[in-house]
Amino acid sequence: MNLSSIYHPLQDDLQIIEETLIEAIDAKHPVLEKSSIQLIKAGGKRIRPVFVLLSSQFGDDKENKEQIYKTAVALELIHMATLVHDDVVDDATIRRGIPTIKHMYDDRIAMYSGDYILARALEVIASISNLEIHKELSNTLVKIVEGEVDQIEDQYNLNQTLRNYLQRIKRKTALLIAISCKLGALAAGAKREHVHQLYKYGYYVGMSFQIIDDILDITSSPEQLGKPTGSDLLEGNITLPVLFAMKDATFLNELKRVFQNRHDLKPSDIGHILDMIIDSDAVKKSYALSDAYLKKANRALAKLPQNDAKQTLQMIANIIGKRKF
Ligand code: IPE
Ligand code: IPE
Ligand code: MG
Ligand code: MG
Repeated sequence: MNLSSIYHPLQDDLQIIEETLIEAIDAKHPVLEKSSIQLIKAGGKRIRPVFVLLSSQFGDDKENKEQIYKTAVALELIHMATLVHDDVVDDATIRRGIPTIKHMYDDRIAMYSGDYILARALEVIASISNLEIHKELSNTLVKIVEGEVDQIEDQYNLNQTLRNYLQRIKRKTALLIAISCKLGALAAGAKREHVHQLYKYGYYVGMSFQIIDDILDITSSPEQLGKPTGSDLLEGNITLPVLFAMKDATFLNELKRVFQNRHDLKPSDIGHILDMIIDSDAVKKSYALSDAYLKKANRALAKLPQNDAKQTLQMIANIIGKRKF
């Protein structure tokens, strides 16, 4: 089972969302067209729109598709805008298998392309009549920005705790996934208690999603990642496996030593650090925490009525725990 088989029953809806995304961007300007439309056409998992669609199945108003599609498009555009800016901050060269806007042009064009995509998201949001959806989207964007700034503040900080890490990934990743589930249900007029359980499901799945992303950064190959293995550490980002490995004093001392040269770190400087993490129980412990979140996600789902969407959400939670991409 993989994500594409999950997407199959949703393909008509996803096709409309793709077309709406392209229409929403509507870049007449040659540079913005090239940058933004290429990023849409490069794909991505579209997991946030998928969560909107599946959660909308719990509402009585699920056939009223316009608001559901607009919500899905707004969420994907907000996500894309944050990616374009994130690639400037992270100095990334590849996104969705193609060169980042930052790499194709420069930081300045990338910052404005991100703003442009966000402005287009605002246009879509303005056409959604439900004001609660507006409020939730802006609150979540504030949290994402706080999470990203916290991450910069915590770079190379070896005194941070598990709590710091969890707070950061909640803001930078989990809340947008939680809100995708919540807003899909709200847009379809679902009952409050169901909206709440879907929000919880999305939050727990989102925590697991980012933990797995952080594990893969250490365990996957550069080909799979489209960037060097250990990119997080090269930037000074202390992720969950590193935090667990830091409980060992020898590892912590070696990491301190390597970070002394922080402004000039190359992949070859951290190869042995990555090996130490892989040889410890840190990766296993990280998967265990991801699994604990996925169990909580499934417990939230258990409180929802039985339907096809519920089964699919269960499958997505399982796939996320095992994903290799
Ligand atoms: C990337 O999100 C950023 C994280 C939250 C880890 P996705 O992995 O959903 O990116 P796309 O949309 O598939 O490119
Ligand atoms: C992506 O975060 C941006 C947000 C979650 C806002 P990362 O920097 O951790 O993820 P990738 O590896 O670039 O997708
Ligand atoms: Mg980043
Ligand atoms: Mg990044």
